[in-house]
Amino acid sequence: LDNGLARTPPMGWNDWNAFGCNVSEQLIEQTADYLVSSGLKDAGYQYVNIDDCWMASQRDSGGNLVPDPAKFPDGISGTAAYVHSKGLKLGIYESAGTATCAGYPGSLNHEQQDADSFAAWGVDYLKYDNCNNQGVPWQQRYDAMRDALHNTGRAIVFSMCEWGEDSVWTWGAATGNLWRTTGDINASFGSMLSIYHSNVQLAQYAGPGAWNDPDMLEVGNGMSFTEDRSEFSLWSEMAAPLIAGTDLRKATPATLSLYGNRAVVAVDQDSLGKQGTQVASSGGHDVLAKPLSNGDVSVVLFNENSSAATISTTAAAVGLPSAGSYKLTNLWSNLVSSSTGAISATVPGHGSVMYRVSVGSGSSTGSTHPLVGASSK
Ligand code: DGJ
Repeated sequence: LDNGLARTPPMGWNDWNAFGCNVSEQLIEQTADYLVSSGLKDAGYQYVNIDDCWMASQRDSGGNLVPDPAKFPDGISGTAAYVHSKGLKLGIYESAGTATCAGYPGSLNHEQQDADSFAAWGVDYLKYDNCNNQGVPWQQRYDAMRDALHNTGRAIVFSMCEWGEDSVWTWGAATGNLWRTTGDINASFGSMLSIYHSNVQLAQYAGPGAWNDPDMLEVGNGMSFTEDRSEFSLWSEMAAPLIAGTDLRKATPATLSLYGNRAVVAVDQDSLGKQGTQVASSGGHDVLAKPLSNGDVSVVLFNENSSAATISTTAAAVGLPSAGSYKLTNLWSNLVSSSTGAISATVPGHGSVMYRVSVGSGSSTGSTHPLVGASSK
């Protein structure tokens, strides 16, 4: 959506994957504090997003949405003020239906009134779900909220949670800043894999202001470290929104090392805004390539199988110009190596190896991504 927002994929946190309906002002504010103290805010995580179940079960006598006073004693406006005081932004949730998925009042036919509430409260991001839609055509429902948000005059990212229905990617860019391409993710390798398979096919529809959304990250919620690292690598390679879905307050150092890898985040956030594509896929061994703004290419070697395998490609196959040599930076180990064209690694089962590949030796190119602990491999 050409509203000047989400020129790179949105980054932040959402409570749903880890907490379901157990959302509260305290959780939102503690997470905001933690984003600051952990350094994740500085790494780019900006939106603190409230999902379903934040409301009272009825609108007030004026038809306005009411925050649950037990869960949000200072209301959404008080919560937003706190989040803003930390230099972060606040997201909220509604549904383009008569009720949310959990049964709270929906925004269908209340679009302008609800958008006005969100704007008055200081909301910066709306996730707009698809439950209880009464069969009203998508265009009517999602365009109505897009226009209502626009009419408020407040900058509000519009995240459409339409589960990939109605081939949303073909109309998404005209309506929202991001759109879900599938049903809900869960914290299993199988769920993550099947969503990846769907989302990776849709690269042509993504670009600045308009992103395919393969759902929120499950990193830290129960997959193995290797699987978590694959999800973070693949989501970044696909220029997906990076919305952390775990209880960050209790996250392990290993989990934080995934969310906080700035070299991988930089691939996701690259200003060219290209979603990576599969340049090869056979027998569960995938090669993905994502062109970057400085001419580098990010390459992910992904092993869908449970046993380790060597996965190989070439600089030419990932779209780099021919050259005598290439510099390969392993974005997870920080090791740097040189190559005359081969790009190859032993990849553990369910694992991923991620390289940033540059033309030349890299020593005199004025690289903008210096590495800590670089050494030859
Ligand atoms: C369905 C969405 O796809 C989920 O991400 C979550 O927002 C739930 N609804 C909340 O009810």
